[in-house]
Amino acid sequence: DSWYAEEIERTIITEDEIRAKVAELGALVSADFAEGVLDSGDELLLVGVFKGAVMFMADFARALSVPVKMEFMALSSYGSSTTSSGTVRILKDIDSDVAGKHILVVEDIIDSGLTLSWLLKYLEGLHPASVSVVSMLRKPGVQRVDIPVKYVGFDIPNEFVVGYGLDYAERYRELPFVGVLKPEVYQK
Ligand code: PRP
Ligand code: MN
Ligand code: MG
Repeated sequence: DSWYAEEIERTIITEDEIRAKVAELGALVSADFAEGVLDSGDELLLVGVFKGAVMFMADFARALSVPVKMEFMALSSYGSSTTSSGTVRILKDIDSDVAGKHILVVEDIIDSGLTLSWLLKYLEGLHPASVSVVSMLRKPGVQRVDIPVKYVGFDIPNEFVVGYGLDYAERYRELPFVGVLKPEVYQK
């Protein structure tokens, strides 16, 4: 058994389900941007949000059939807590000029929506041609702000999940599936 077998209560999304969804999202997004949105020679600018989106960013970029450039931002709103503080800090900013570019923000999960809401305002201020969002996961009904998210992989129950980039106290990001931890893990 893997080292984490005793710590996971149940799997929410399997590795196979993730793979299929990434392919589906890649095809959908490619079609949307290929058809008259990207000018010839232009590329889609993926903005991945560290650290959580790192797994999805790597898989999703390879599922696209339009050319991309990649930028990464590091934001943190959770620290080691399991609920959002609402305070977003930029730990790492974009390196290039994004004015006039078509930006696609790549996120692992939308929970309260506060991180993304803040990020979208920030990016709009940089005068891109467009900003849209793809998120692997979303918790419906818990967003505290209204955010337009065009592409969502899975709507999941309002539980604290880990794996496929998502952490609890910086651990479990490398799990190839999305799951729920046993309660005793939080009580340690
Ligand atoms: C998590 C997650 C999203 C954000 C979603 O990031 O990866 O970025 O919280 O929460 P929200 O919708 O309530 O704002 P976190 O701040 O934990 O940093 P991390 O990606 O480095 O784990
Ligand atoms: Mn994150
Ligand atoms: Mg986190």
